[in-house]
Amino acid sequence: MDFPIHISTVSEVPLHRQIYEEVRRGILSGRLAKGKRVPSTREMAKQLSVARATVTMAYDYLLGEGYFEAYPGSGTYVSRHLPDELTSVEDVVDELADQLPERTAPLPRPRQLSRYGAALQAKEWIGFPDDEPEIQFTFGRPDLDEFPMRIWNQLLSRHCRQRNLSILDCPTKSGGYGPLRVAIAGYLARARAVICDPDQVIVVSGSQQALDLVTRVLVDPEDTVGIEEPGYVGAQRAFQAQGAKLSPIYVDANGIRTDYLKSRFDVNTDESLKVLYITPSHQYPTGVSLSLPRRLDLLSWASRTGTIIIEDDYDSEYRYKGKPFPALAGIDSGASVIYVGTFSKVLLPALRLGYIVVPKDLVDVFSRAKWLADRHSPLIQQQVLADFILEGHLERHIRRMRSIYSERRQLMINVLKGLFENDVTVYGDNAGINILIRLNTDVPDSELIKRAKDLGVGISSTRNMYLGAAPHGEFLLNYGGLDEQTIIEGLSRLRAATEPKGELLPA
Ligand SMILES: Cc1ncc(COP(=O)(O)O)c(C=O)c1O
Repeated sequence: MDFPIHISTVSEVPLHRQIYEEVRRGILSGRLAKGKRVPSTREMAKQLSVARATVTMAYDYLLGEGYFEAYPGSGTYVSRHLPDELTSVEDVVDELADQLPERTAPLPRPRQLSRYGAALQAKEWIGFPDDEPEIQFTFGRPDLDEFPMRIWNQLLSRHCRQRNLSILDCPTKSGGYGPLRVAIAGYLARARAVICDPDQVIVVSGSQQALDLVTRVLVDPEDTVGIEEPGYVGAQRAFQAQGAKLSPIYVDANGIRTDYLKSRFDVNTDESLKVLYITPSHQYPTGVSLSLPRRLDLLSWASRTGTIIIEDDYDSEYRYKGKPFPALAGIDSGASVIYVGTFSKVLLPALRLGYIVVPKDLVDVFSRAKWLADRHSPLIQQQVLADFILEGHLERHIRRMRSIYSERRQLMINVLKGLFENDVTVYGDNAGINILIRLNTDVPDSELIKRAKDLGVGISSTRNMYLGAAPHGEFLLNYGGLDEQTIIEGLSRLRAATEPKGELLPA
């Protein structure tokens, strides 16, 4: 046989696919030489005892991918230049091996990082453990198992079947997919009293990108940025990387202390702030919410001083008692607030979808910054999310999760009080999916973290959430992703870690 091909009639692989694979393998191994004449579809069909259409289908793939070349009137041949030769550089690297430097050669000179790169390298980085303990209170995740994957999947396949792919053409989409911006604007008006044009909503890849864009657009090196003390490390690091000076603004049971803020940075003081970053709904990490008088005070301060407030509303959806305060952006009449929201807590952090609502005069500059950063966030995901919100799934999901998390929060408090009695203080409002506690223990924080880890429990102290000194024994426990039994087990082990030998207590 001049063109040897073997196929199996009992294989589950379709016949045309087998022919294609056989021929391709034969060509790549050299068994079917370049330039060799290929039997006609009729001859091959006869040789293999299959329908001619089956062979035609396999040949079409081989021609389309460039393994065959057809010359009208002369016939079909194995290509002289194989497509794999155009996509692989392995041969080239092998040939050049003698001339290339050792891959492990030391750096010829020290790296010259940018100021941004150097700032990133200088700062102690946010700690992500390599090996996750069995039970972890460390990450602020929602319950991943509760993500409505079935509905998401249905909406996703609806969009993957769409015929008009020109909708995915990207040049004008840096602000986000239109219907999603409409859906977010509608949701914000209902849930947070934020009234905005859909154009003011810029879809971003999670609130971390919002903070990055805010920093690039508004903050210069040496600018002073106000940040809650204690506060969110993701925001601290974004501003510090830009070379900003961070000024801690202290927080008490009613949120950020506006009296302190005004005593330091006002029209009649020497210093001013470029931006102020805050988490008014559920202060991170203390969990308190900013009182209404302070909200009003803050807004009048902002319009007086011209300071932009960045309102990070990361988990405002989870409030278990009483009516929520409207967002600061919802009661701002002076275009002083940039509102940041995320789907990481209500849906899934892995979606990497969030949004910024910017005052109208800043829409263009933020759209350009987003374009420069990554053109736009993934469009198919945005389409799915738009339907998810517009068809009511988001609010249904939030209602369901709110009752689950509310029970978990109560359980956390009951179990903590039961185990630690007067040696634990729980902070914060009845809200959120994390809880700030202070333990009265002689065990140093780092030792407690280590002992807990040895017992299979991950906990984070608030040490790097403070620009200044952190109090001893203060921990932020994330419970959103943990079911009832895991919460009880995890806290019992934490209690054991405070015991002299770190032994599990009898049940
Ligand atoms: C204060 C705060 N903002 C925002 C986020 C969410 O970040 P992202 O939207 O980038 O996932 C978190 C996550 O832990 C957070 O704690």
